[in-house]
Amino acid sequence: MNARPIDGKAIAADIAGENAFRAARLRDAGTVPGLAVIIVGDDPASRIYVRNKALACEKAGLNSWVHALPANTPQERLVGFIRQLNGDPTVHGILVQLPLPRPLDSRAVIEAIDPAKDVDGFHYHNVGALVVGEPAFYPCTPWGVMKMLEHEGIAVEGMHAVVVGRSTIVGKPMALMLVNAGATVTVCHSKTRDLAAITRQGDILVAAVGRARMIRGDMVKPGAVVIDVGINRLPDGKLCGDVDYASVARVASRITPVPGGVGPMTIAMLVANTVHGAEKAAGIAADRETRIA
Ligand code: GUN
Repeated sequence: MNARPIDGKAIAADIAGENAFRAARLRDAGTVPGLAVIIVGDDPASRIYVRNKALACEKAGLNSWVHALPANTPQERLVGFIRQLNGDPTVHGILVQLPLPRPLDSRAVIEAIDPAKDVDGFHYHNVGALVVGEPAFYPCTPWGVMKMLEHEGIAVEGMHAVVVGRSTIVGKPMALMLVNAGATVTVCHSKTRDLAAITRQGDILVAAVGRARMIRGDMVKPGAVVIDVGINRLPDGKLCGDVDYASVARVASRITPVPGGVGPMTIAMLVANTVHGAEKAAGIAADRETRIA
């Protein structure tokens, strides 16, 4: 088998087009959707991510503001600033780039965000809504994966999906979204015994561990759909995923590349969430627009 790549860049471009259309409709109705991004400290990778998020907003016709705060910003100042943004009617989405420098308490910071502006979907309110299967802001990366599967006509209902990774940002919400969509889900992680025996059962295999090329072809079921959420930098500066593309592409039926797979989807879904927040604030949103399939 030679897996057909899933072109995340092209799917994200489709979604970006929809985002721009919805943003224009909002502007005509007198609301410019706005995203406020907070970055604390000077982690170079975080700075690049934040810049790309702001650029994507501008391209779709949204306002975006990047608030760069010093690494020694006290917790109370950061929380006070978030409260100020909560009360600002021109701000429809608030994103605090993670990880935060020590000793900031990221959970307490996230809980300070108004759930109606929590476009990352990290607030307990939105996490709870996802568990129950209610419409909410869903975390951008796993929601982007669901949109990719939907776009490619891959019906997950009844499939066995194996998620490798149990992070709060990707692995756990990914598993919940797949369960909500009717898949049978197994979650594996660093303590899982005989990982390969489990990954080989996945009709869909999602790798979100943050270890370069750890999923090899002999760990994949023939014909599986393989989604690579990892972005790892190799010593030579090149990017690679958690999946060993060359060996897995010989076994799988579909595979997402890195770069150009899940990455562009994350940003497209962030803009979609911000537009949705603005639509709700303007009273023109249908709840089902955030529902998964
Ligand atoms: N850091 C890595 N991924 C993310 C994300 O999706 N949202 C935020 N806020 N920070 C991140």
